[in-house]
Amino acid sequence: MSTPALPTTPALFQTMQWIFNPVGYMNTNFKRYGDMFRGYVTWDGMDPLILVNEPKAIQYILTHDTGGKFTSPGDVNKILEPLLGQQNLVMMSGRQHQNRRQLVMPPFHGERLKAFGQIIQTITTDLMAEWATQEIKNIRKLMQKITMRVILEAVFGLYQGERYSQLERLLGERLEMTNSPLTSAVFFLPWLQKDWGPWSIGHRTQKIAAKTDELLFAEIEERRANPDPDRVDILSMLLAAKDEEGNGLSDQDLRDELMTLLVAGHETTATALTWAMYWTHFLPDVKQKLLEELDSNATPTPETFAQLPYLTAVCNETLRIHSVAMLTFPRRVEEPMELCGYQLEPGMLVMGCIYLVHQREDLYPNPQQFRPERFLERQFTPYEFMPFGGGVRRCVGYALAQYEMKIVLGTLLTQCNFELLTNQPVQPSRRGATLGPSKPIRFQKVGLRTQSSKTLQPV
Ligand code: HEM
Repeated sequence: MSTPALPTTPALFQTMQWIFNPVGYMNTNFKRYGDMFRGYVTWDGMDPLILVNEPKAIQYILTHDTGGKFTSPGDVNKILEPLLGQQNLVMMSGRQHQNRRQLVMPPFHGERLKAFGQIIQTITTDLMAEWATQEIKNIRKLMQKITMRVILEAVFGLYQGERYSQLERLLGERLEMTNSPLTSAVFFLPWLQKDWGPWSIGHRTQKIAAKTDELLFAEIEERRANPDPDRVDILSMLLAAKDEEGNGLSDQDLRDELMTLLVAGHETTATALTWAMYWTHFLPDVKQKLLEELDSNATPTPETFAQLPYLTAVCNETLRIHSVAMLTFPRRVEEPMELCGYQLEPGMLVMGCIYLVHQREDLYPNPQQFRPERFLERQFTPYEFMPFGGGVRRCVGYALAQYEMKIVLGTLLTQCNFELLTNQPVQPSRRGATLGPSKPIRFQKVGLRTQSSKTLQPV
């Protein structure tokens, strides 16, 4: 039995393909090698990683990733360390990782999540009202503002005030620095992260990081000095947490965890919402059907939005067609085994290739077509439709992200009439570690919609 195939192109060339044309890289190798292949998707001296796109094999990996057959080590995620720091969920392994997850998960689920619904709707409505101009040059900027404010609220319990405005601006600037394949290379080529002088990416990112840290540490210090047992935001909970010896988290631990949640929690959802706006307006039939569903509810609340079947299908299809996260984090093989007819050996790293799973013709006929109905016609298993990964590292924000997408999209379309000005098809392209639109998507606000009449009012 053989190990999964490794493309014959030189390693550095593969990494370049992965950086500059990730979709082409995945599609080509899928056509050539099928369910599983190896690839140099980082350039830090690591052995090639195994990309798996066969749902049953992914299921096997993600249901055995707590030890024994596979583990989910944090040290292999160091590509994200310059952005997130060392002491956070993503970099942790084993028991420490599980304990930290239990600390940060609750605000993103159940009743606590429901309490966010109203806040998300208010943030969306307020930002729409702030829009003085009718032309929106890049809808992503609006989406990023919404998701940033939502995550600031979840993490700190507040999104207004000077410190939060500064954080919002700095994080926005930082993430904008990896908004193209070229600038995203900084993630994959560690030497680009060094400070090579005032014009280098390394210099600029380090400057922004230092300012961001100043704000985060100031907030941590203030909260430590004024503990409030009634607050239920994540920072308050992390501040109250103690380990078995009664020790709390250090300021550096807190900074790294906050940064992880702020970055992971807003960039991804903003991209998903940008695509959702694009698809609903690029395909008039989809928009029409969605508006019919939205308009059938006299005064839709966040909870109503969350229950709507077609709106849910639109959001799922958005997350499927251009998976924002292309890969899961790596899982390490711990014992020799056979998977999909290949031999895997201890130490090998495997990743679920979310993008390719979502492009499988056998699951999603005509996969390049945006067709929300697929999600109404059949049920997919969690390993056939898996935008948030799975197993021990399943995205902690999956429920918040899905809830947020539906409320934001539902609120925008219920309240305003938009016209898409970018008429040419938009292709997916690398944006940092994610897959986003290859160019800014322009919209125009053409009217307000009222709940009572559902007619178009002049702006
Ligand atoms: C559309 C939006 C989002 C997508 C597509 C997405 C996708 C993912 C994926 C694929 C993973 C890796 C899972 C694995 O390895 O199995 C992940 C992990 C993670 N996500 Fe998300 N995510 C989104 C939104 C969020 C939000 C809103 C938050 C924060 C509230 C968040 C925080 C995290 C964190 C902290 C991890 C690391 C979990 C761990 O290591 O245990 N994500 N996400």
